[in-house]
Amino acid sequence: MCGIIAYTGHRPAVPAIIRGLKSLEYRGYDSAGLAFVHSGRLHLFRAAGKLQSLEQKLAGGEVLHATSGIGHTRWATHGLPNEVNAHPHLDVHLNLALVHNGIIENYQQLKTMLSDQGCTFRSETDSEVLVCLIAHALNHYGSILKALAWSMSQVHGSYAFALISKDHPGKVWAARKASPLVLGIGTGENFVASDIPAFLPFTREVVFLEDDELVEMDSGQWNVYQASILEHTLKKIHHIAWDVQAAQKGGYKHFMLKEIMEQPKVLTDCLAGRIDHKKNRIILEELEDMPVPSRVQVVACGTSYHAGLWGKYVLESLAGIPVNVEIASEFRYRSLIQEKDTLYLSISQSGETADTLAGQHMVREHGLPVLGLCNVLGSSVARGADRVLYTQAGPEISVASTKAMCSQLVMLYLLGLYFAQSKKNLDSRALNKYLSFLNELPDLLQAQLPQMQIRARELCSRYSRARSLFYVGRGIYFPLALEGALKLKEISYIHAQGYAAGELKHGPIALIEPDVPTFALALENDLLSKIKSNLMEIKARSGPVLALTNPGVELDADERWELPKVIDPLNSFLVLPALQLFAYEMAVYLGKDVDQPRNLAKSVTVE
Ligand code: G6P
Repeated sequence: MCGIIAYTGHRPAVPAIIRGLKSLEYRGYDSAGLAFVHSGRLHLFRAAGKLQSLEQKLAGGEVLHATSGIGHTRWATHGLPNEVNAHPHLDVHLNLALVHNGIIENYQQLKTMLSDQGCTFRSETDSEVLVCLIAHALNHYGSILKALAWSMSQVHGSYAFALISKDHPGKVWAARKASPLVLGIGTGENFVASDIPAFLPFTREVVFLEDDELVEMDSGQWNVYQASILEHTLKKIHHIAWDVQAAQKGGYKHFMLKEIMEQPKVLTDCLAGRIDHKKNRIILEELEDMPVPSRVQVVACGTSYHAGLWGKYVLESLAGIPVNVEIASEFRYRSLIQEKDTLYLSISQSGETADTLAGQHMVREHGLPVLGLCNVLGSSVARGADRVLYTQAGPEISVASTKAMCSQLVMLYLLGLYFAQSKKNLDSRALNKYLSFLNELPDLLQAQLPQMQIRARELCSRYSRARSLFYVGRGIYFPLALEGALKLKEISYIHAQGYAAGELKHGPIALIEPDVPTFALALENDLLSKIKSNLMEIKARSGPVLALTNPGVELDADERWELPKVIDPLNSFLVLPALQLFAYEMAVYLGKDVDQPRNLAKSVTVE
């Protein structure tokens, strides 16, 4: 969590840093700050709350003239989200300023050691300890590079940091371990940031930094060192193909709405090049020569976990491969039972989620194969996996994930078809049928989205006073019910719980009351008659029912929301946006901050 950026170059640094921070705000927005060197001293601006509060504080001629500096947007881990705990942090002698993302796990021991040497601290943060440690080492080594290398050997935990020094205007140092950091290479200017959109308007040339790498840069040059031996490392420059517009709102009021509406394009992009229409085959070149696994173990968090649960139904039914899906924060601390021919599948939009990465590392340490399903090019999940399937959703900015899940579902569906085809589980007529429905999906969704938004808006006022909502589904719709509930909680703050409809009677039905409505996913499939019975049980207990269903389906509901019928499981590609739009419209109706919900961050890079 937290977003960091550093700039050094020929343009005014403060606007470039603020612009970068705006695109990083999805990583945290408890407080923000920036620092730069001007006229031989460090200037520091910090404010609690969103970036706007920091912008209001920026004043003085030096703000206009600085050409290098560092900035930070915070998601609090150690200490309250107030101004004192906001970054950048300075050392006692006000020589160094540092921004940090991550957690220094041994900060208490280091703090005690530094306090014993006379160091005093102003904040409660682990980050201030880091800058004081570097200053302490600088006293000893006399070189910032050496001081950084030594300090990095002393700290445990995860970090990405950037540092400037009053004595070296125009220079920036940065390093990472288990937290994301990318270098942006410009002409006469260079950047480091937690994520590419922070500098994308200025350069598309990026260098992905690895753990324990340390950068020293100024406007004209950049060098990467392996910190443990302080040896220069050659790095590859990657060109980013997606454009700045992809990371902007494009006329929509919120990123979330824009990203929901982009899903037809996401479907098209994910399918592009994946189907050989002449041979009637799925193409997943990334998996060539990979044997079909006997089992799949999915590891993921949040929305990606729900995508994994959906994938279980698809892989099992299409390819006959047993799939286990586990929340990464649990998986990482369990004993790994090694089963022959198991493929581990890490699903992550950002590719930087700490728990998912830890699960992936554990698997790799046992020498087992990992396939990453990931949206962000060059992210830690992508780099740490044996093979990667990129999900092609484009940059997702809204904290609540929407289009990324759509892309994950497409890739999981293609994976199911691919394994089925490799195992000869699927005759070409069946495959043909699936492929032709798949191809029609983007246009169908595009045509449906406007009406879906109108219906979502109509319904949300009716349910906005609910004390809590159940989302229920069976089979393939159970994971979608979980996702619908998660979306509603995240952005509208109405309590909601996703449940397998058949399980409701084993306890939760006790909570059904007139102000606890049920959002039922009751679409035409083999389990429809079962869910109809579950809805009657709810109605018999005075629970209001809103049913997402297909035309012609008869069921006992107070409100119907009809979607055109599509074959299973492709119906999911209409159900998912309906659930997302309901949550979106509810949050807008209730006046909530849709793109930056309280207490959340898009990419959770701490445990
Ligand atoms: C955070 C986000 C969620 C996301 C989850 C997993 O909690 O707020 O929207 O689903 O992380 O993120 P990942 O990038 O690994 O898919």
